[in-house]
Amino acid sequence: MSNLIQKLKSKIDALLFWQTPIGEILNKIYDLRLFYKYSFKKEKFKSKNSHKAYLTKQYHIIEKGMALPNPRLGFGVAKIETLIKLSKSYLAQFPEDELTLAIKSCLKEYILFNKTNNVDITTPFYKNIENFIHGTDYSKNTGGVRNVSKLDLAKKTNIDYASFAKSRFSIRDFDKSDLKISQIIKAVDIAKHAPSVCNRQSWKANIYTEKKQILNLLKIQGGNNGFTESINKLIIVTTDTKSFTIMESNQVYIDGGIFSMSLILALHSLEIGACCLNTCFPFTKEKKVKSIGEIPENERLIMMIGIGNLKDNYKVAISSKKKIEEIIKIS
Ligand SMILES: Cc1cc2nc3c(=O)[nH]c(=O)nc-3n(C[C@H](O)[C@H](O)[C@H](O)COP(=O)(O)O)c2cc1C
Repeated sequence: MSNLIQKLKSKIDALLFWQTPIGEILNKIYDLRLFYKYSFKKEKFKSKNSHKAYLTKQYHIIEKGMALPNPRLGFGVAKIETLIKLSKSYLAQFPEDELTLAIKSCLKEYILFNKTNNVDITTPFYKNIENFIHGTDYSKNTGGVRNVSKLDLAKKTNIDYASFAKSRFSIRDFDKSDLKISQIIKAVDIAKHAPSVCNRQSWKANIYTEKKQILNLLKIQGGNNGFTESINKLIIVTTDTKSFTIMESNQVYIDGGIFSMSLILALHSLEIGACCLNTCFPFTKEKKVKSIGEIPENERLIMMIGIGNLKDNYKVAISSKKKIEEIIKIS
């Protein structure tokens, strides 16, 4: 009997229910429920991740302000006061880390910027900053601004990017050899340089190496029929809803999508074959993936990426691209 119910349930899952508007609405409700459960409200944090996200957002406002062509002298007073207050409450709960060092480094530069422009830095506002950053080791400048020379940049961008980008294809036929984890880590290390909402870097690359676990995850995904066995390792890109606040629910997917693309190109640069695998399935399946993949509830699934070493020769779908006239609109 319970077998029959199970069968019936999976039929509903696969065919009927989730294809209806009600299914879509239920999925959206789940989406919103998770967002409200884990996202943060202004200055109210239910988790360390949210506290970090807010501080990152806040100090990044100051560093990007200093990167403008003509920053207003003494800009951002209220924002800096809040930043210091909330950094102190963070440091009361957690030890100094890369984030607090970056904040302090950014504030040190803020003082320097104003001092160089003859702003009176003897006021209580600047004293408060100085007290907060006092005693910090600035051997690594991890916050603030950096100078870039167009000439130096030209040396780094002098690559045939068109050939590189045009030679990437989704690969569905991988070599049998084992893909080294160190290569995947290398790719993620490149990919993390992707742009991100207020530099919050909400993403995670969950890397799966065990065949059984990979097969169980791929079974739920469903869009890998015919090349399941060929996939050597699996990445599931997720983003953390704890990194976001009100009106940012779409940023969960934008941040994750940008990181995923960055990762796909990084894999390509290391000659690792990859195929994106969609996660457009009902929340019931998302829950199963999270359970098998040991992904916490607050993270949302962006996509799976099947990866493996390249064969000497293989076929790819042509996947014809639209004409440029169909994509651009010049006003
Ligand atoms: C978010 C996303 C989900 C995808 N899901 C699947 C999938 O489930 N199975 C599959 O074989 N390909 C999948 N693809 C690959 C696309 O089919 C492929 O990117 C597209 O046809 C363009 O081909 P190209 O990647 O070779 O340029 C996915 C791509 C993206 C971006």
